[in-house]
Amino acid sequence: MAIIFRKAPGKIILFGEHAVVYGQPAIAIPVTQVHATARVFPKLTALKGTVHLQAPDINLDTDLSHLPANHPLAAAIRVTLEALKLETLTLDHLPAFTLQISSTIPISAGMGSGAAISVAIIRALSDFLGKPLSPEKVSDLAYEVEKIFHGNPSGVDNNVITYQKPVYFSRGQSIQFLSIKRATHWVIADSGEKTPTRETVSAVRDQLEAQPNRVEMVFQKIGALTVKAKNALINGDLEDLGDLLNENQKLLEALDVSSPNLENLIKAAKNAGAIGAKLSGGGRGGNIIALVPPDKVGPIKNALTHAGASHLIDTTLPPGGTT
Ligand code: PMV
Repeated sequence: MAIIFRKAPGKIILFGEHAVVYGQPAIAIPVTQVHATARVFPKLTALKGTVHLQAPDINLDTDLSHLPANHPLAAAIRVTLEALKLETLTLDHLPAFTLQISSTIPISAGMGSGAAISVAIIRALSDFLGKPLSPEKVSDLAYEVEKIFHGNPSGVDNNVITYQKPVYFSRGQSIQFLSIKRATHWVIADSGEKTPTRETVSAVRDQLEAQPNRVEMVFQKIGALTVKAKNALINGDLEDLGDLLNENQKLLEALDVSSPNLENLIKAAKNAGAIGAKLSGGGRGGNIIALVPPDKVGPIKNALTHAGASHLIDTTLPPGGTT
């Protein structure tokens, strides 16, 4: 059996986080400068059915049988084997193999690290076992894993990461891939603060329960600006896109998912010439994203470093749309 190596990129949400959980649209793009990788190879000397896992980033080097069933890596393996209809067989029917996982995607930073690891594992394992899965199935299975760990994920992460294309996504509707006319340049700056998405999603749900009218109105405003942003992105109207990013940030502040550190980074990016900026992902930490003129990437990155960013990535979404 051959060695199989599969990669999945990171992602950023440009517009619509949180509101997307409640049915509004969101726009997300892949970030291929960072990725998760899964490598599967036969373990010839081991007993049939032995699944060995190595994830040096988290100091993991153990057999699958020693991991709790609710471990994210065990869950990704389990949903894949179930989808391949191997669940009715005992593991003894499988060849022994080693699964190596690594990732350069920052964790708990709103860049989709968990979904990317799941997508890489699902692809590597199904291909290794000679039963490749369709992208739709890969995305659905990654969503199953997301549900175990995030409670009520919208599904945007598993889609943008599986398809590796800019997406316009609404829950329960078919996904739209965006074909854009003009390149856009983005700087992604990590605040260094980490708040699990589960926590911010639950804080927003508490607000919705306490003040349904106000919060529903914020969701609708986010949805309306995401519709406008889709056209601005497709047509390359960068000034409009920048204004919409700034507006979206104000609405995220109204949902109380921003933080002083994030706002400090946003201000620094704008003062150094960014066209627009906002937090991206769950918030209360993680990353900000800034839409930047290509000749200002360097100065904006310097300004963000001075403002305390712990990690910077710049990425270009080229015409057509795949980074
Ligand atoms: O922090 P991330 O990258 O997992 O993004 C979260 C986006 C939310 O809209 C807050 C949640 C979701 O499931 O869409």
